[in-house]
Amino acid sequence: MSSSIAPYPAGIEALSDRASASPESGIVEVLNYGMGRQGIIPLWAGEGDIPTPAFICDAATAALAEGQTFYTYQRGIPPLRNALAEYTGWLYGTPNSFERFFVTGSGMQAIQTAILLTADPGDEIVYHAPAWPNLPAAAEIAGVTPVSVAMQFSETGWHLDLERVFAAVSARTKAICVNSPSNPTGWVMPKEDIGALLDFCRGRGIWIIADEVYCRFVYGDVRKGAHGRPLAPSFHDVITPEDRVLFVNTFSKNWAMTGWRIGWIEAPESIGIKLENLIQYSTSGVAAFMQQAALAAMQEGDEFAESVISDACRGRAIVSEGLRKSGRCRFAEPDGAFYAFFGIDGEPDTDKLGLRLVDEAGIGIAPGRAFGPEGAGYMRMCFVRRPAGLSDAMSRLNLWLAKR
Ligand SMILES: Cc1ncc(COP(=O)(O)O)c(C=O)c1O
Repeated sequence: MSSSIAPYPAGIEALSDRASASPESGIVEVLNYGMGRQGIIPLWAGEGDIPTPAFICDAATAALAEGQTFYTYQRGIPPLRNALAEYTGWLYGTPNSFERFFVTGSGMQAIQTAILLTADPGDEIVYHAPAWPNLPAAAEIAGVTPVSVAMQFSETGWHLDLERVFAAVSARTKAICVNSPSNPTGWVMPKEDIGALLDFCRGRGIWIIADEVYCRFVYGDVRKGAHGRPLAPSFHDVITPEDRVLFVNTFSKNWAMTGWRIGWIEAPESIGIKLENLIQYSTSGVAAFMQQAALAAMQEGDEFAESVISDACRGRAIVSEGLRKSGRCRFAEPDGAFYAFFGIDGEPDTDKLGLRLVDEAGIGIAPGRAFGPEGAGYMRMCFVRRPAGLSDAMSRLNLWLAKR
C-alpha cells in the first residue's frame, strides 16, 4: 500500500535529547575493541578471571528446576532481604531491619534508582572524580546535572578535600555521592570525613548516596569490621536508620557474579513504598531463581569472598611491584578497591593508549579519561586476578615500555 506521507526515518537525531547525549563509555570502547582477541589479558573491567562458584550456580538451577519462574516480590524475596540485613549486621555490628533492603538488577540499577529517588530534572548531584563513569552518565540520562569535585593525586595517593565538596553544593544539590573505596583511584574516605559529611548533609537536608561496593577490599593496617576482618570506614558507622543515606551494593565483586546483574539498595524504611514503585516501573524485580543464587552467596559464600579478597591483595602486590620496576609510572599503592590507577611518564595522552596496548602489548587497560577529565593522563588496570595472568600482564607492559 502506498502512502502519501513522506518517510520519517529513525536515527540518533530523532531520539530524545537525553538518549542522544548519552556518552560512550571509554571502558566499553577498549573492551569492544579487544574482547575475543587471541591471547589478550583483559584488565579493562572490574572483574576477575574466576567464574561464579558452583554452589551459587547450583542454587539458581535448582530454583529453576523447582519452577521458580514466576513474577516475584518487587523488593526482593524475603529470605534474601533477611540475609542482606544479617550480612550488613555481621559486617558493621549494627542490628538491621530487613525492611531496609531492596534487591535490584545490579549495582548499576541501584545507582540509577538512588538518583531517581533523590533528584528531579534540573537538580544537581555532587560527586568526586575521577569516578566510575556510570554514575554521572546515569544522572545525565535522568536529566540531573552531575557536578564533579576533582580529587588530587600526590605520592601518598588520591585525596578528596571536603571543603571543595562543600563548595560545590548549590541550592539545587539534592545528593552527594561518595564511592569509597573508590573505583578507579583506590581512595578510601577517612572516618572523620564520613562524620563531617553526614553532619553537613543533615544540616541541609541533602541525601548521601554511599556506593560501598568495595567495602571489603581494603589493604594495609586498617580497622576491622564486626566480622573481625578488614572493612572500610562506612556511613553505617555513623548513621541512624532514618538518616537520608542510600547505600548501593552488588553481588558482582565479592562473589564473582558480574555477569548476573544483581545488587541491592539499603534505604530508610520510610521510603520503601516509593522504592518499590521505581523497581516496579523499571525491571519489575529480579528473577526469583537469581535471588536464590544470591541467597546462597550470602549464606555460604564467605570463604569464597575471602579468596577473592586474597586474590586482590596478591594482585595489588604484583601490579605495584611491576609498576615500580618500570621506573616510568606515576603511582601510589591504592588503599582500597582493586584497581591500579597510574600515569606513564612520556605518555601524557592516554586517551587512545588502551587501544594501542591491545594491539601492541596484548593487554587490556582502560584509559583514565573514561573516568572523567580528571582522569586524563592515567590508565586503570584491574588487579583482582590469579597471579600468573597478572605477572604476565606486567611483563608485557614493561616490555612494551622498554621499547619506547
Ligand atoms: C563503583 C562501582 N559502583 C557500582 C558498580 C556496579 O556493579 P554492578 O552493576 O556489576 O553490580 C561498579 C562496577 O564496576 C562500581 O565500580
